[in-house]
Amino acid sequence: MKGDMSAVRTPAEIDIDGLVARFAQLYDGAPAGVWAAPGRVNIIGEHTDYNGGFVLPIALAQHTIAAVQPRDDGVVRVASASIDGGAPVEVELSRVAPGGEFGWASYVVGVGWAARQRGLPVTGIDIALDSNVPLGAGLSSSAALSCVTARAWSDLLGWGIDDETVADLGRDAENHIAGAPTGLMDQLASVCGRAAHAMQIDTRAVTIDQIPFDLGKFGLSLLVIDSHTEHSHAGGEYAERRQSTQEAALRLGVSELRDVPLESLATTLDKLPDLLRRRARHVITDSARVEQVAAMLAAGDDPRRIGRLLNDSHASMRDDFEITVPSVDSIQAAAVKAGAHGARMTGGGFGGCVIALVEDTAAESVAQACVDAAARGGFPTPTAFEAVPSAGAARLR
Ligand code: GLA
Repeated sequence: MKGDMSAVRTPAEIDIDGLVARFAQLYDGAPAGVWAAPGRVNIIGEHTDYNGGFVLPIALAQHTIAAVQPRDDGVVRVASASIDGGAPVEVELSRVAPGGEFGWASYVVGVGWAARQRGLPVTGIDIALDSNVPLGAGLSSSAALSCVTARAWSDLLGWGIDDETVADLGRDAENHIAGAPTGLMDQLASVCGRAAHAMQIDTRAVTIDQIPFDLGKFGLSLLVIDSHTEHSHAGGEYAERRQSTQEAALRLGVSELRDVPLESLATTLDKLPDLLRRRARHVITDSARVEQVAAMLAAGDDPRRIGRLLNDSHASMRDDFEITVPSVDSIQAAAVKAGAHGARMTGGGFGGCVIALVEDTAAESVAQACVDAAARGGFPTPTAFEAVPSAGAARLR
């Protein structure tokens, strides 16, 4: 058991009975059920998901939990233990449309909007939430929220939709109602995760290969080190990266950067101006790194061997895609210097978390080295936990 004095922390437990009791207090009745959806970390392949490329996420053991009861009108009431002092937000579903301002509730009411767009029958719901997915840390707390909502709503109203559609509803809520132009990786990871596996997702075909990822068997751990430098995708930088990669594809005469062959990469990219060349090079090489890592893991290779590719991916995000920040670079470098086999920023960037592949026995000293480096650099104090690949969204009760 890792105590508070340790640099590697155990995530807080969620009290499901407590959530059900809070639901009863807020809404004066029992919930019809309780659902959970996890956050995620991406092992490798960043900003490739909206370019038709590959990604390799795992679902985490940290979840957003929702106690839910359908209503017979068109009202959604939603309350979160950790937001606004737990007070419920109330939204009439007929008011929900792109351009509306619903704050964090966008990820809930946006799912109702997206379901209606697909012609699914939607009535209101009452929801009480709790979560141990860190907020704003690049661990997909927003996908956990939209996917737990979609799963619960679908189960309660009998939508009969497949996992991919559950994920799609979450993405639609995020893209159109929350206004963040993301790809589908986070939602697919949150819905389709499997214990002891990583998901190699072909984002063009929207197919998932579940690849064994049981680091414990090799005496290894995957540390997630939170820089506590807050990130946001509704900001302009993410959208700018999306635009510039689309422009690069257009100039290269392909529909998506996925279509650029790796063999002649240098010559092909020569046709682009410097900035677009570097943006495109990141996407194409990182997607190729996903394929390499997935192939190594699928073949049962020693996972230590993927470390080099994690480092290469970080350098590519730092130098070519320019989505890292000094606090994150400092953590990555400190982790490698302290003995991690490889480390890279994970997620959309501009803050968030670093993952580091470490010997079990070195987890504590690597995490401490990152804390020390942050102190020297004048950055916020990082915190670390061990990533445990876990199952996707499901009904708990
Ligand atoms: C965010 C988005 C994803 C993906 C990553 C970067 O997490 O939600 O769709 O683009 O950034 O890989």
